[in-house]
Amino acid sequence: MGTLKPLVDKLREEQTLTHDEFVRLFTDRNPEDSEYMRALAQETAVANYGHDIFLRGLIEFTNYCRNDCYYCGIRRSNDKAERYRLSDEEILECCAIGYSFGLRTFVLQGGEDMTYRDEPFCELIREIKRRYPDCAVTLSVGERPRGTYEAYYEAGADRYLLRHETSSPEHYAKLHPSGLTIENRKRCLKDLKDIGFQIGAGFMVGSPYQTYDYLAEDFEYLKELEPHMIGIGPFIHHKDTPFADMPDGSCEETLYCLSILRLMFPRVLLPATTALGTIDPLGREEGIRHGANVIMPSLSPKDVREKYLLYDGKICTGEEAAECHACLEGRIARIGYIAVSSRGDHADWKRK
Ligand code: 5AD
Repeated sequence: MGTLKPLVDKLREEQTLTHDEFVRLFTDRNPEDSEYMRALAQETAVANYGHDIFLRGLIEFTNYCRNDCYYCGIRRSNDKAERYRLSDEEILECCAIGYSFGLRTFVLQGGEDMTYRDEPFCELIREIKRRYPDCAVTLSVGERPRGTYEAYYEAGADRYLLRHETSSPEHYAKLHPSGLTIENRKRCLKDLKDIGFQIGAGFMVGSPYQTYDYLAEDFEYLKELEPHMIGIGPFIHHKDTPFADMPDGSCEETLYCLSILRLMFPRVLLPATTALGTIDPLGREEGIRHGANVIMPSLSPKDVREKYLLYDGKICTGEEAAECHACLEGRIARIGYIAVSSRGDHADWKRK
């Protein structure tokens, strides 16, 4: 056994560490202690969720974006990105297909496309909830005014994903052009939580200029925020962005972060993300072995999948929704888990 076992035990017992201890988890990382932490993380996930894996049907409905994040393939200045928007009918068709597979959460994700006004977008949310009252609607459409978030919630949206990307103002400024700030991001997350959403924050592992100090700050911020969901995946370069030549994050470090998060937040909803499955063919299965309990099969129509490219090499871009779903169900079953057909809300959440 390496030297980190006492820290890993402390993390499991107290569900947090000091800043310097978080940093040490990375600087002194070694295979034996990583495996020890992985096993504890998996045990924690199983103690809380059994072998159930929650599925979320992901509908990538627009790749127009007003922002210009240096890492992202659908950034405004990428004029090679072929832009698209799904109509309400197309989005509802994705939901119908997903529902027929047993999916009970629909995630509407898009760039910050300002052509979607509060209405009729809220009417689309209401229509999904009318047709599928037993389903959760998750939104992932970026930074909006508080009033807009309130309107989404009143229309029936249940959850909101908005990764904080990095908690450090200094690091945030290296990933985003001026005008985008971590202060506003944190304001949005706080508003969303106050309004009553189940919220998801998160960050990329191995993003350009990331240090262990920054990662430690991410863990500290998450502890303070206490989100219901945490999305992390490796940074993967995109050829038509300013970070085209930056090194990708690693699978191993992402898995290590997943285990830390599972020990910090025993009941959090923690996806094994598409980026993790892209950087390594068995990344998502490994994610589950490291404490993840959510998978997000894509419901996006086949002809738009290759246009929603945040990074190079994204998997499942040539698949129909049915293939994606069947493939993931099989992968989950083969490692001894079950893809369940339920909303999969966080245990501590009730609609206000
Ligand atoms: N590599 C990995 N993840 C990325 N994201 C955006 N661009 C990339 C990239 N190049 C992530 C961001 C964003 C989420 C939707 O996708 O963290 O919040």
